[in-house]
Amino acid sequence: MSAWFVYGPPAKLQAGLFRDRDSRVIDAATAGLEGRVTVLDVGAGWGFLSFTIAERLRDARIICLDSEFMLRRLCQEAEKRGLSDRLQPLEASAYQIKLDEDSVDVAVCQDVFHELKRPAEALNEMVRVLRPGGRAVVADMRGDTLFGRLNGAHHGRGSHGSWRPQELEDLFRSAGLQDVRVTTAGLGIIGVGVKEAPA
Ligand SMILES: C[S@@+](CC[C@H](N)C(=O)[O-])C[C@H]1O[C@@H](n2cnc3c(N)ncnc32)[C@H](O)[C@@H]1O
Repeated sequence: MSAWFVYGPPAKLQAGLFRDRDSRVIDAATAGLEGRVTVLDVGAGWGFLSFTIAERLRDARIICLDSEFMLRRLCQEAEKRGLSDRLQPLEASAYQIKLDEDSVDVAVCQDVFHELKRPAEALNEMVRVLRPGGRAVVADMRGDTLFGRLNGAHHGRGSHGSWRPQELEDLFRSAGLQDVRVTTAGLGIIGVGVKEAPA
């Protein structure tokens, strides 16, 4: 696929549809962070979210998890943007994150959970690698809009499809996350929760 398609007008159209949600995701992922923190981007794709987080958090390390195919493109683009030294590609599955437990400050995942067959398993993995007090952020398409319903049907073959607010909240609570907040923004939905820290 050409760079024009991946980073040009088609990508900008998609970004426009989800502008409200995406800016809130960046805020949720970066809030209160400074210094040499570690952010994990699960299903980083071509890197939009990772690039924006890296630009906002100048001393952070961003671990970009995806398939080898997606990461190849992400690394080329990171090089062009001068971000290679802080972006670390990780070829892995969302179901088996090849990182130690308690090793990242924030685990974020955008537009991936609708594709998953076992989203609870993926969220549990995000929680496992989060340090106590660390934050999980999951963003996706809302299931309670026409757009979300059509997309849910499109992704229906065993994958979850778009998310309704209560469903995402239940998922976060089942994963043992605290301070759970689920909000909607335009066509998107965002779940945020904190891994319990020892008393
Ligand atoms: C729609 S793209 C979203 C990319 C990026 N997060 C963004 O917001 O631009 C979905 C990404 O999830 C990745 N993905 C899907 N299932 C996955 C899994 N089980 N483990 C890891 N990555 C997965 C795909 O390879 C793809 O890059």
